Amino acid sequence: MTKILCFANNKGGSGKSTTCASVAYAFAERGKKALVIDGDMQMNLTLSFFPEEQALEIAKSEKNLYCAIKEQKPLGNYIYNTSYENIDIIPSSTLMSSIEFELFSKWQREFILRKLLKEVKESGVYDYILIDAPPTLGCWVMNVLSASDSVIIPVEASPWGLFGLANMFEFIGQVKELSPELNLLGVAVTKVDARKNYFRQTMETLRGEDGIKVFDSVIHLDSSVEWAQDNSMPVGAYKKSSRSAKEYSALAEEILSAL
Ligand SMILES: Nc1ncnc2c1ncn2[C@@H]1O[C@H](COP(=O)(O)OP(=O)(O)O)[C@@H](O)[C@H]1O
Ligand SMILES: [Mg+2]
Repeated sequence: MTKILCFANNKGGSGKSTTCASVAYAFAERGKKALVIDGDMQMNLTLSFFPEEQALEIAKSEKNLYCAIKEQKPLGNYIYNTSYENIDIIPSSTLMSSIEFELFSKWQREFILRKLLKEVKESGVYDYILIDAPPTLGCWVMNVLSASDSVIIPVEASPWGLFGLANMFEFIGQVKELSPELNLLGVAVTKVDARKNYFRQTMETLRGEDGIKVFDSVIHLDSSVEWAQDNSMPVGAYKKSSRSAKEYSALAEEILSAL
């Protein structure tokens, strides 16, 4: 049975797109077939698999997530292969900036993504579908969460990384009223600066949250992440021996055993 998980946090720059691409890659390395869906108009997940020129072509074409939602067409027709055998992708478009407007007039507007993903999910082609959410808390992110079985919250280990997290938990609580089966799988701590011990405080604060799992595998700041993104690759594919690639591999293991 295909499992759907999403990466969400209303705070931008917390590592959602990086984590989504890297975890998908680590799943694929373990022989799991993954479909990644770019839910953000910034197209960072798309850019983790396609060079900029190609990503912009896709954004202008009729075959991207925005078009599927706007036309309410099943998502199976919007899938692209990537350079990796076990990873397919539904890319985003810069036009996702008007997704809230598109959703507004639609019937059962919180559940459109879930409805359009149903066929792909039930086909059983993929072991996992991973959705990268934008840094917002509106109807579209409600769609992303309602379509998912589990949500992972990437949190940046910085003084402001935790700010607003309570809103995120509250939002997930609201979505659970509509989709009770949604499971908050855990918080993944990212962008840890090894030179500062601030991260210990982040971990302590997070571990003090009742009923919230914090993954043991944390991701350190690593310039390989940026080089990988510059080369339109997940970090594991760019440099398998890098610290972050190894950490993402460990995180993926933890996620697999928590699912
Ligand atoms: N482990 C890391 N080491 C170095 N830079 C990172 C790391 N993780 C993310 N980044 C950088 O931080 C920025 C935000 O990450 P991103 O995954 O795009 O966050 P979000 O999707 O939550 O906005 C990006 O520029 C990315 O290159
Ligand atoms: Mg992002």
